[in-house]
Amino acid sequence: MSLAGPSPEARTAGHRAEGRPVSAVPLHPAAPVVLDRLSRSFGGRTVLDRVSLEIPAGQFVALLGESGSGKTTLLRALAGLDGDAAAAGRFTVPGSVSVLFQDSRLLPWLTVIDNLTLGLRRPDAREAALAMLDAVGLGDKAGVWPATLSGGQKQRASLARSLLRAPDVLLADEPFGALDALTRLRMHALLFRLVERRRPTVILVTHDVDEALVLADRILVLKDGRIAEDHAVGLPHPRRTDHPDATALRGALLRSLGVDTGTV
Ligand SMILES: Nc1ncnc2c1ncn2[C@@H]1O[C@H](COP(=O)(O)OP(=O)(O)OP(=O)(O)O)[C@@H](O)[C@H]1O
Ligand SMILES: [Mg+2]
Repeated sequence: MSLAGPSPEARTAGHRAEGRPVSAVPLHPAAPVVLDRLSRSFGGRTVLDRVSLEIPAGQFVALLGESGSGKTTLLRALAGLDGDAAAAGRFTVPGSVSVLFQDSRLLPWLTVIDNLTLGLRRPDAREAALAMLDAVGLGDKAGVWPATLSGGQKQRASLARSLLRAPDVLLADEPFGALDALTRLRMHALLFRLVERRRPTVILVTHDVDEALVLADRILVLKDGRIAEDHAVGLPHPRRTDHPDATALRGALLRSLGVDTGTV
């Protein structure tokens, strides 16, 4: 595989285990995300077991799996946030990365716009933040404290903060999991619209099979520490979850997640 091209922000990991320097080869942001026999364990218990995977630049991947199957562990590994796990294998996440969590993680002592611009080094940070707030429907909330926002508004602000960084890779861990069904549907449409503009590679961890079916180009199921299923979703957008292909895939995914579709 060729991973050529300059990028100061390219990140690799796992090379140290093989005695090679980290980031020896600069990677182009349009390079794929690559996992090569990635393993993670806690206290001797293997959670990820030699996961190998290649995600082309710009692909939108949904990662499903039962609770405790290791989805967050995989995302934290790719985000470089897993210092507490025993690690083996290699991975490559090219370009700049943004992480989006289930809770918005807005800093309560900063206004919404200051949360967005925090650490952003560009001369037009404020204008860009205002435009992004407009895009997520929060144009009138720039100057307010996060505590005054609803749950859905906080997640929209959090999404705006992530996308304002124009990441090459967006890692999202159940960002809409705590939202009501209607707000979640609105967030799906918003996320799709926003990522369509710039096409970052997205890895979205979710419990929601319909969320995966509506948004993803590809759906993975994590089971027993491995990628047990890998489905390409070729349905055109905007997607309808009652499309016969979507219905068939939903049934298969629910069954592989241990849900008895005969009773729901
Ligand atoms: N820091 C940690 N220390 C010890 N064990 C951990 C740690 N993080 C995760 N684990 C364990 O690893 C396994 C996978 O956890 P993980 O959070 O990745 O699951 P998940 O698929 O994200 O689950 P959920 O859908 O409930 O969020 C679990 O058994 C969990 O207890
Ligand atoms: Mg999790």
